[in-house]
Amino acid sequence: MKTQAELAADQAAFWNGSGGKMWLASYDRIQRGIAGFSDAALAAAAAKPGESAIDVGCGTGETTARLSAAVGSSGRVLGVDISEALVEAARAQKLANATFAVADAATYAFEQGAADLVFSRFGVMFFGDPVKAFRNLRGAMKPSGRLVFVCWRTPQENPWGLVPMRAALPHLPPYERPGPEDPGQYAFGDRTRVERILKEAGFGTPSFEKLDQSNTLGRDVSDVLENLGKFGPLARLFKEATPEQVAKAKDAIAEALAPHATPEGIRLPAACWLVRAAQH
Ligand SMILES: C[S@@+](CC[C@H](N)C(=O)[O-])C[C@H]1O[C@@H](n2cnc3c(N)ncnc32)[C@H](O)[C@@H]1O
Repeated sequence: MKTQAELAADQAAFWNGSGGKMWLASYDRIQRGIAGFSDAALAAAAAKPGESAIDVGCGTGETTARLSAAVGSSGRVLGVDISEALVEAARAQKLANATFAVADAATYAFEQGAADLVFSRFGVMFFGDPVKAFRNLRGAMKPSGRLVFVCWRTPQENPWGLVPMRAALPHLPPYERPGPEDPGQYAFGDRTRVERILKEAGFGTPSFEKLDQSNTLGRDVSDVLENLGKFGPLARLFKEATPEQVAKAKDAIAEALAPHATPEGIRLPAACWLVRAAQH
């Protein structure tokens, strides 16, 4: 079993390597898919003029830009991300009131007690030691500060990811499932775990709101198949598989997705938690 430090190092390597590359290459499509979750999370964050905000795991900085517009010229936003390439993309926006740091948010030396808001869109599920990380984030917040983030619920509640994965797995090399305490996309699916982490980190009792929508995976099955291998666990498995295995997996995915065709494209349910907690 890997130590928390090894798990964190794996994540840093992933987001600075293939993960960051794939995220950038697929970003437009990903961003369209998560737009509804984004809007809900930013509305809940309710950043106000003059506030100081931190965007954790800010990626290319799209939410940082929206926070920076909300806090205005009298406010400021700090985007923190472990991936150099993604922060470079974020910096290219040249936001007047935002700065960016390439850093591990779990250990970054934030200005203490200064932030009104700690926000994240899908950027807080990758810590090797989440309690330590959230303790660090809490230290950056004013006593009146608020934490607002959006994260995926369980794979079972997210058929947009599970249906293609389940169909493909029998045809691909063995998949090492992440353990329940391991970092990853669905690491915060279990709300009791998230509640425990936040409480241990010193936050007040968090609230959990279910956000549900339909995710459009593509215009049609062939469009989905073209993009599926570009990001996420399937992309990694496709890389390790032979061309024959990939072809069989794609056939199985096509069959599994066919019933989900609608006039608007291939649509499947997607489910997130909107989590809010006070600093104490
Ligand atoms: C799923 S992406 C979300 C990116 C961005 N929030 C968005 O919604 O476009 C997860 C992000 O978290 C970043 N990340 C992962 N572990 C991190 C850590 N320990 N500290 C800071 N950023 C981290 C990754 O580099 C990646 O940009």
